[in-house]
Amino acid sequence: MATISSVFLLLLLLYVLVQLIKLQWKKRQFPPGPTPLPIIGSLWQLKFVKMHRDTLMEEAKTFGDIFTLWLGQSPLIVLNGYQGVKDGLAVHPEDFSGRPITPFFRIMGKKRGIMLATGETWKTQRRFSIMILKTLGLGRRSLEYQIQEEACHLVESFTNTKGQPTEPPFFLTLAVSNVICAVVFGHRFSNNNKEFHKLLETVEHLFTLSGTFWQYIYDILPWLMCHLPGPHKDVFSACDAVRAFIRNEIHQHQERGASPEPEDFIDYYLSQIEKTKDQSKQDYDEDNMIQSIFDLFLGGTETSSTTLSWALLYMVAYPDIQAKVQKEIDGVLMPSQTICYEDRKSLPYTNAVIHEIQRFSNVVSTGMPRLCIKDTKIRQYPIKKGSVIFSNMASSLYDPKEWETPRQFNPNHFLDKDGNFTSRDAFIPFSIGHRVCLGEHLARTELFVFFSNLLRSFKFRLPDGVEEVNIEPIWGATLRPHPFKICAVAR
Ligand code: HEM
Repeated sequence: MATISSVFLLLLLLYVLVQLIKLQWKKRQFPPGPTPLPIIGSLWQLKFVKMHRDTLMEEAKTFGDIFTLWLGQSPLIVLNGYQGVKDGLAVHPEDFSGRPITPFFRIMGKKRGIMLATGETWKTQRRFSIMILKTLGLGRRSLEYQIQEEACHLVESFTNTKGQPTEPPFFLTLAVSNVICAVVFGHRFSNNNKEFHKLLETVEHLFTLSGTFWQYIYDILPWLMCHLPGPHKDVFSACDAVRAFIRNEIHQHQERGASPEPEDFIDYYLSQIEKTKDQSKQDYDEDNMIQSIFDLFLGGTETSSTTLSWALLYMVAYPDIQAKVQKEIDGVLMPSQTICYEDRKSLPYTNAVIHEIQRFSNVVSTGMPRLCIKDTKIRQYPIKKGSVIFSNMASSLYDPKEWETPRQFNPNHFLDKDGNFTSRDAFIPFSIGHRVCLGEHLARTELFVFFSNLLRSFKFRLPDGVEEVNIEPIWGATLRPHPFKICAVAR
């Protein structure tokens, strides 16, 4: 018995040794990086379990701003700092336009839609979705009216709190998700709709769980993890719940019958399915429609509402900055004037503060992974087709070579010496390249219109007896503030 165990142990050691040598050999073909181990890759160094902005920035000091980590046996090429991210995603937009369909992403995105699709599917769905959004008013005043209407509901919700301590994220999520609902479903949901509340809670749950340790473990050991209970299973059932909600909305449209003039995303998509149903190649079908809506809904809800939560938290943390924004708004806008995105041009300080909120909160901290779709090079490093590219976008937003005071909340980053707004190249919260955020314009408009409306209407302060503001984030798929309460005092 003892001999069998010894032989087994010896064989195991031999296997690990061979794998180790193979890995070290393979490693030479990639940009430098910390030594990986067989099976677990770089995860033996626990600091890599969380792909934390600062851990990666620290590693870049040793290996340079382009380095390799190993997820199991698969290389992960990390782009760090503004120059590193730019040399990858902006210099090679087409080469790095793929999305790795990892086991986790395959279940979340079903290889359909936009965000978690790749190749032709991604190209077709992204192009078509942008076309519909533009037809529905993206980038034009018509969609802005929808945002302004939601801004009124948002101000009303805060007014109803009568200056009492309140948790703002829920109101904010309702407002931004209702904008995207109006676009895709053709209607908004009332603040009392229980089913909609449940959906938003599911989405929140989904974001809390994804992007964590469980996702990496699932991607390394999918054959094992798919049989085990754990938070990864909750993510998958949350995705199914969101898809079921969307499917229900689509069925309601179908029951209503085709409208002569398409009015929302679903109308346009259903009409496209009908138009192309006889083609041999079926690019447009219900699965792609559901997943594209899923992507717009998820992409358009959590990121913008989390940024607005940070906005209010920073305003109570930095009351002088809040007062300066209010002074500027009061001096330029009439109290009853409808605020539009164009007004940012006459409100340079407010605009700078909103940019600084996005920079400092770096909500989508480590971006979304990309896939290299053809052999290419970043600087002197050959990058093989199939490599996964991980851009540490927050390292551009916190790059000490680009920002005067990267670790401080400082709106002057976006102001010139005369107080005019100035844009900065390293400001890339929406990413860059062919996969740049599809909702960038919508998000920028929402942030400006919601933020300026709220600050014109209320002075935000901490509840009585609360002295400290915690501006450390909770790390997950997005960086969110810890739960907090504030008082919105009517001005
Ligand atoms: C503050 C708000 C937002 C931030 C910071 C943000 C950021 C991002 C980032 C970093 C990506 C990944 C791009 C990449 O692969 O490199 C992305 C993708 C995406 N975003 Fe946003 N986003 C925001 C709002 C929105 C909104 C409002 C929508 C909805 C219209 C949206 C829809 C999407 C979609 C569909 C993608 C996938 C694009 C693709 O894979 O081609 N986002 N976003």
